[in-house]
Amino acid sequence: MTTITLNPARSRGTINKNIYGHFSEHLGRCIYQGLFVGKDSKIPNVNGMRTDAVEALKKIGVPVLRWPGGCFADEYHWEDGIGPEAGRKRMVNTHWGGVVEDNSFGTHEFLELCRQIGCEPYINANLGSGTIREMSEWIEYCNSDGDSTVSQRRWANGQKKAWGVKYWGIGNENWGCGGNMRPEYYADEFRRYQTYCRQYGEYKPFKIACGTSGLDYNWTRVLMEQAGRYMDGLTCHYYTVPGDAWEHKGSATDFTTAEFYKTLKKAARMDELITRHDAIMTHYDPEKRVGLIVDEWGCWFDVEPGTNPGFLYQQNTMRDALVAAITLNIFNRHCDRVIMANLAQTVNVLQSVLLTEGDKVVLTPTYHVFDLFKAHQNAREIDCFVSAKDVGEGDISLPQITASASEKDGRITVTLANLSADQPAEAALNGVSAKAARGRVLAGEIHQYNDFDASPLSVQPLDVLVKDGAVSVCLPACAVAEITLEA
Ligand code: AHR
Repeated sequence: MTTITLNPARSRGTINKNIYGHFSEHLGRCIYQGLFVGKDSKIPNVNGMRTDAVEALKKIGVPVLRWPGGCFADEYHWEDGIGPEAGRKRMVNTHWGGVVEDNSFGTHEFLELCRQIGCEPYINANLGSGTIREMSEWIEYCNSDGDSTVSQRRWANGQKKAWGVKYWGIGNENWGCGGNMRPEYYADEFRRYQTYCRQYGEYKPFKIACGTSGLDYNWTRVLMEQAGRYMDGLTCHYYTVPGDAWEHKGSATDFTTAEFYKTLKKAARMDELITRHDAIMTHYDPEKRVGLIVDEWGCWFDVEPGTNPGFLYQQNTMRDALVAAITLNIFNRHCDRVIMANLAQTVNVLQSVLLTEGDKVVLTPTYHVFDLFKAHQNAREIDCFVSAKDVGEGDISLPQITASASEKDGRITVTLANLSADQPAEAALNGVSAKAARGRVLAGEIHQYNDFDASPLSVQPLDVLVKDGAVSVCLPACAVAEITLEA
């Protein structure tokens, strides 16, 4: 029997709600069709934003949304995307599919989308091919209420009051698509750019430096040593790719049980990455003032057969749900350093929570995991020790159960996943005496997914047994659950 021992006396702090953030890039059908259809579309919308997508995102409490990239950010020039639509510049999206980007979704539209979802915007500025003046005027355009020429342009475009955007990324993957820079060079560039991220009135920008590709610890070391004192956040990107070559990442839906476990094992590496980046950051920043921001994560598979290779469209199975549960539990347990994370990417790209086709929308298994985990947002993390047998195949093994726990308003929330492809798991929750408990679960066969003609996967009630204060549960195979305890 698995045991999950809770210790409410021990905590790493508050789980920042922004750990449950998302990412939307001008890539494939994420922005266009996925989130924005334009005011004249037959698809129900408010000011061009599709109503079904906005409603679904509100339901899982999306706290923060990153935009406009990704690699696109370092080629994006914000002035191309403001003003009357007919006059906006048309550009070729050279990174993603070579399609023409008409800039009909720009700063005003993004901030309107965030307003409708009820989330904080996180804007990633262009360091790779932009200028300091361009970035600093973008901040002024968004945040200044002064009577300057830049603010007057915003007024003329229909927005009188400054939006007050807090989160500003300064470049993206500048070791790669954002300019192929060395860490020493980027550290200097970051120091220069961040100088001109000015505060307007009460709006103090939260300055986010571009971090590592996940495994490059030297990048983190150099950035922290040479520019740590100028930043509020440092990013880290890590994708779960089951294949061993970039050209063969593996299919999203057609995989063996060995590939299933290999994918989960690779996702679980997030723990090691955060632990090691945190150790480097702690050397330079023992107070943990600088937050680690995992602003791109998720599964990256081969695109669905027959779709544009530059659009990164992939299906999403129960395997993705388990990857999400493993990763979010890791973030919760590192909440003393990880202050934000952004799943890539919200709709129709990589590990999406929503898929769309015309006027139809699908809630993926990953969507339901965000629903099951939402009670952790801004809750106090509590220590949670799991003792479980290993599962796996061949030379791959990992603990059968992953879990994390938090408390808020007198309730304890435990999120857990059973990583076995075919074995249920009996689990006892120790360390607290419960008056009552309830559960919700998402479970299915490892290859199952929701599609436009049928959505077999949804959250269901889960029986949780409480006897003399002791709590136990039987988790089905391949399942993600939320258990709420009244202590
Ligand atoms: O999410 C897709 C791409 O992955 C992003 O544009 C880039 O930052 C990363 O390499």
